[in-house]
Amino acid sequence: MNKVVSIESAIGGNSMAAFDVEQARADFPILSQMVYGKSLVFLDSGASAQKPQVVIDAVRECYETYYSNVHRGAHFLSQRCTDEYEKVRAEIAEFINAPSENNVVITSSVTESINLVAQTWGRKFLKAGDEIIVSEMEHHANIVPWQMLETEIGVKVRATPIDDNGEFLLDSFKELLGPKTKLVAITEVSNVLGTIVPVREVIRLAHEQGALVLLDGAQGIVHQGVDVQDLDCDFYGFTGHKLYGPSGVGVLYGKADVLNSMPPYQGGGDMIEKVSFHGTTFKQPPHRFEAGTPPIAQVIGLGAAIRYVKQLGMENIAAHEQGLLAYATEKMNAVDGVRLVGQAREKAAIISFLIDGAHPFDVAAVLDRQGVATRVGHHCAEPLMDRLGVVGTVRASFGLYNNAADVDRLVAAILKAKELLL
Ligand code: ALA
Repeated sequence: MNKVVSIESAIGGNSMAAFDVEQARADFPILSQMVYGKSLVFLDSGASAQKPQVVIDAVRECYETYYSNVHRGAHFLSQRCTDEYEKVRAEIAEFINAPSENNVVITSSVTESINLVAQTWGRKFLKAGDEIIVSEMEHHANIVPWQMLETEIGVKVRATPIDDNGEFLLDSFKELLGPKTKLVAITEVSNVLGTIVPVREVIRLAHEQGALVLLDGAQGIVHQGVDVQDLDCDFYGFTGHKLYGPSGVGVLYGKADVLNSMPPYQGGGDMIEKVSFHGTTFKQPPHRFEAGTPPIAQVIGLGAAIRYVKQLGMENIAAHEQGLLAYATEKMNAVDGVRLVGQAREKAAIISFLIDGAHPFDVAAVLDRQGVATRVGHHCAEPLMDRLGVVGTVRASFGLYNNAADVDRLVAAILKAKELLL
């Protein structure tokens, strides 16, 4: 995957390229602005991606023409809004190749998706001594919910190691797996290192032991799409705002039998069949897990985002980003004193780096003044920072709208940082 497949597409000079990055850039109004008198180079899509006009328009159209609460009103607007909202659930199901829209639970974020599994499936099915395997490169959102079960129930959270390049070590994972393993909760793509985890093999091995697998797809779906049935994962979580959709909406995919076996998450309106003071009965999944008014306009926006990336083609986006990754890796490796943190063989377009002798926060501050937006710090992955022996990194994370000129600006800003800081 990590091949120089389309530097031409990144550079924008190849008439054969299936993906026209300059055309795509024009879809994102925010990108055309200046910061500190320089044109903006946005390399923080891993934290949250920018929104194309079609997403902005879809949210505005919802509020301007048919917004109302869903699943409740008997009136025209509520019916229309419910139809649009449920249509998106079906589009999400199709996008991730879920068997049905009933496998798609709407949440507020991937963080909530993971907490939902921990608090429902985890509390019901896990007991003291059971083991949950995560990896050393998980985001806090895929560590802390399981640690909360550690405190509450006495399960054990075990971290499967990576090597110094950020490579997932399948052999070590195999050694950790055992009869006590009940869940493997693993990121598909590291938000810090860009490592693409061999999840197909992880899932196969976990299933051989009778363990379920939850994939944190927050970064994975964005760079490579997903087919949940092909992967055979039991749960898959992702978030809308990294997929060019609005913030405040996430998804939990679950296999039907697993979702059906899970008790409700939060109690409230819209998740019940009948409430009385003698007892309450609950709806079937996915509605059982969706108490209260959902993120309505955000779901509508996510639908528009999914249609947008589908129209561009996830394969084209992936190839374009791989071209950018190869180009940026080569250019950054050529700068003396720059150390790339995370050099796995299979990577998504995320590059963490350090400049020898400079604090990452200072580097990011210089980059920012050059108009280059990156993220700096521990990236919500403190155990990974400990494993790598660093306080933090500067991270350039690419989106479909980045081009080779952005890479050149990043490299120029790094040279400026060296000049100012060393
Ligand atoms: N999880 C997001 C990131 O990696 C916020 O930046």
